[in-house]
Amino acid sequence: MKIIEAKDYQDLSKIAADYIIKKVCTFPELKLGLATGGTPIGIYSNLITDHQKNGTSYQGVTTFNLDEYVGLSGDHPKSYRYYMNHNLFDHIDIQKNNTFVPLGDVDDIQRECTTYENLLQEHGGIDLQILGIGNNGHVGFNEPGTSFDSETHVVQLTPSTRKANARFFSSLEEVPTQAITMGISTIMQSKEILLLISGEQKKDALNRLLTGNIDKNFPASVLKNHPNVTIIADTAAFAGSKVHS
Ligand code: PGA
Repeated sequence: MKIIEAKDYQDLSKIAADYIIKKVCTFPELKLGLATGGTPIGIYSNLITDHQKNGTSYQGVTTFNLDEYVGLSGDHPKSYRYYMNHNLFDHIDIQKNNTFVPLGDVDDIQRECTTYENLLQEHGGIDLQILGIGNNGHVGFNEPGTSFDSETHVVQLTPSTRKANARFFSSLEEVPTQAITMGISTIMQSKEILLLISGEQKKDALNRLLTGNIDKNFPASVLKNHPNVTIIADTAAFAGSKVHS
């Protein structure tokens, strides 16, 4: 795993955005895997600014999001489809029909898992996947204990994940209890992965990732088996790291 230390959240967002912009300019038909949550907001904001100033075009780009809450429709303000439209897609020239987020409000959620997994295969897989990490090591919504062989599937969210995400809702009760997520095997099939880790609250997760063994109970550890992972973490996240001076 390559490691880049950013000064702070702003610096991390800029470095990651520049990385993505360079890829999009080199490969205009990039298949880009996207994440939601707090961490990527700054990146998306940098991509928008660059698009407006420098005209970087996303006309040929196809995106696939990692996950979606079960039970929320795409126009629900807390859904990840809404988040993506609002924080990125509505402000760049990407073709909306080339942006894919799992559907959370379908009758047959198991079928949606298969459909999404097939969609990824039909497009030849993801070239560059943006990833965050949960305090418990989850990637996407793959919670501790998830099989490394998993494909897109439905998960029961852990109390700690629901609590961490309650900040985006009016109350903890409102946070959905299930999500649909790309599996660990799905994520590992991406040709390249950019893992973003920001803030003091992620320092234990970063430390465990850097120093711990590969272990199903800390899903992000599987990334050590991937040939092309770059971690961009800020100084605050490195604070707990024993291997880092
Ligand atoms: P965050 O979430 O970016 O909101 O911290 C990351 C994650 O839970 O994967």
